[in-house]
Amino acid sequence: MRVSVLDFLVCPSCSGKLRLGGTTADAAEVTTGELLCVDCGLDYPVADGVPRLVSARERDSHVAASFGFEWQTFHDGGFESDTVFGRTIDEDVAQFHDVFDIKAAESGEAGRRDPLDGLVVADIGCGSGKLTVELARRHPGATFLAVDVNPAITEVAKAAADLPNLHVVQGSVFALPVREQSVDRLWCNGVIHHTGATEIAFTGLTRLVAQDGELFVWVYQRKVSPLVLVRDLLRPLGLHTWSHRTVYRICRALSLPTLIAVRLLNTIAGLPVLRSLVERSTHARILTRRRNYDELALTWFDVLSPRYRDTYTVEQVESWYTHSGFEPVRRYWWPVGVTGKRTKPLR
Ligand SMILES: C[S@@+](CC[C@H](N)C(=O)[O-])C[C@H]1O[C@@H](n2cnc3c(N)ncnc32)[C@H](O)[C@@H]1O
Repeated sequence: MRVSVLDFLVCPSCSGKLRLGGTTADAAEVTTGELLCVDCGLDYPVADGVPRLVSARERDSHVAASFGFEWQTFHDGGFESDTVFGRTIDEDVAQFHDVFDIKAAESGEAGRRDPLDGLVVADIGCGSGKLTVELARRHPGATFLAVDVNPAITEVAKAAADLPNLHVVQGSVFALPVREQSVDRLWCNGVIHHTGATEIAFTGLTRLVAQDGELFVWVYQRKVSPLVLVRDLLRPLGLHTWSHRTVYRICRALSLPTLIAVRLLNTIAGLPVLRSLVERSTHARILTRRRNYDELALTWFDVLSPRYRDTYTVEQVESWYTHSGFEPVRRYWWPVGVTGKRTKPLR
C-alpha cells in the first residue's frame, strides 16, 4: 500500500493533525491546494508539488535565501555536475549504509530482504536532494521524507516526481512538520551547525526518532582550517549581507588559487616519504584529497555565504545524544559524524 504523506506530517506551529483543503491531484502525495491544521486553524500552501510547512519568518530567513541560491545555482549547472562537494553518489550512498550499519550485500543481493523495507527514513536539510532521491530508488520498500527550509526544495520534488516512496516538504528543523517518533532512520548531514542554535536543532531532530530508531548527525569539527581562516579574515566585511550573486563570483575567483594550492598539496602528500604519514592522519587525508574547480566553488560558497557556521568536538556531539535518551553507537571516520540509537522513551 502506498503510504500517504499525511500519515507523517503535522502542523509545524502546534503539531496538530493536518487535512487537505482546496484541490489536490493525489491524496497520497498532496500536489496542489493547501493543508489546514485541524487544531490551530493555520493553513499552509502546497506549491509546485511541495507542502510549504514553514512560518513566514523561516521562509524569509537568511539561511533559506543563502542555501536557496546555493542549491538553485547547483541545479542550474553553476557548480559541480556529477558530484556534491566532490563526492559521487555512490560514495554518499556508501556513507549512508555505513553510518546505519546497512550491509551492502543485504541491501543489494537478489532474493535477500532489503533491511530498510517497511521503515521510514528522513533526510532533514536534504540540500541538493541527490542522496535521498537515489536512496528512494535503491530502497523502494522504504518510505523517504526529504525536508529542507530553502525554496530550491522545489527542484528536489521535480527529481522525485516518479518516486511514490519519496515525499518532499519545505520545513525547518526548529519547527519540524513531522510526527514525533515516526522516523526509523534520520539522516542530517551538514545542517544544524548552520542554524545558530545547533543544540536546539539537535533536540528537535531527536523527537522525531522512534524507539530503537537511529539518528545520524554530521557537524563541522573544531579544528584549524585554511578556508575558515579566510572566512574569519573576511568577517569584518559582513559577506553574508552582500548579494548572493556577488559572493558567488568571489567564490569562483577564490577557487583557482585554491585549486593550485590543493594540487601542490596533492603532489607533496604523494611523495613516498610522506604517503604513509598522510594516510595515518584523518585531517591530512581530508586536506589533501583530490578536488576540482567547480567543487571548490561550491565549498567556498558554503563557507562564506552562511551567517552561521559553528564547530564542535565529537565528545560534545556524543553528550547531546546521551542527554536526549540516545546511546551513541557509531562514529563516522570523517569528523564529526555520530550515529545514535534511541534507547530511552521520549519525555
Ligand atoms: C551544507 S547544506 C547540506 C545539504 C545536504 N545535507 C548535504 O549533505 O549535501 C545545509 C542544508 O541545511 C539546510 N538548512 C539550514 N538551516 C535549516 C533549517 N533551519 N531547517 C531545515 N534545513 C535547514 C540548508 O537549506 C541546506 O540545504
